[in-house]
Amino acid sequence: MGKKLVLPWWGRKKNTELEVSPKGLPHHVGIIMDGNGRWATARGLPRVVGHRQGAEALREIVRECGRLAIPILTVYAFSTENWQRPQAEVDFLMELLLEVLTDELETLHGEGVRIVPIGQLGDLPKPVRDQVEYAATLTASNENLKLNMAISYGSRQEILKAVESLIDMAVRGELTQVTEMTIAKLLYTAEDPDPDLIIRTGGERRLSNFLLWQSAYSELYFSDVMWPDFTKEEFQKALVDYQKRERRFGKIDENE
Ligand code: IPE
Ligand code: IPE
Ligand code: MG
Repeated sequence: MGKKLVLPWWGRKKNTELEVSPKGLPHHVGIIMDGNGRWATARGLPRVVGHRQGAEALREIVRECGRLAIPILTVYAFSTENWQRPQAEVDFLMELLLEVLTDELETLHGEGVRIVPIGQLGDLPKPVRDQVEYAATLTASNENLKLNMAISYGSRQEILKAVESLIDMAVRGELTQVTEMTIAKLLYTAEDPDPDLIIRTGGERRLSNFLLWQSAYSELYFSDVMWPDFTKEEFQKALVDYQKRERRFGKIDENE
């Protein structure tokens, strides 16, 4: 046997084990779960198979948020624009939502997950809306992880709804001044701090009408990984990247 080659420290393969520090974790993470269709098409499978696989990926990330004690996760599951997809795909997505919220509900409840649907829930087929509302009621007092599920969600529609409420309040003479807080409190995310980190999978670099007001100072992380392949290790990569960033909020570091 030949002599074992020992590389000097600078030649050694870096420890690939990622270290997410328990300090400086984001309080609120938003995820644009994109790439299900392309994941399936690349494998010669119908797009809907990608959606089903995507639901599995979500389970893993929810569990990981619980493990890391990240308190709020907002996931973009279906946009107001997604209604324009072929009816068969929309129907499948609605069925899948119903199925996941039925089959996984007890487990999620047991894990202390509070499910909060956000979006134009009135647009959902009645059985889906009923189940979404049931899930929200059942899990309302859970405290481990708040899972905001953006379904039939569009940020412009959300802001428009807030403006309509403002007009109503003004007409009733209940409005003396409008501040940023007034508007924030009229959004679906009224009780949450803004997301610290927004992750988009699937390679596109855009927000696609997700949390436009709330993301004013969010850190953005784009991954080329398609959502069904987004494992907890990929999620940890995003968190490690986030932890290296310096958030300035428009100010400067006075110690420099
Ligand atoms: C995201 O995956 C899921 C939804 C929008 C419902 P897509 O369905 O957008 O997948 P791609 O982007 O076409 O690959
Ligand atoms: C954004 O993805 C919506 C969700 C992930 C639910 P889309 O696939 O709908 O976004 P675009 O069309 O690429 O901008
Ligand atoms: Mg997409």
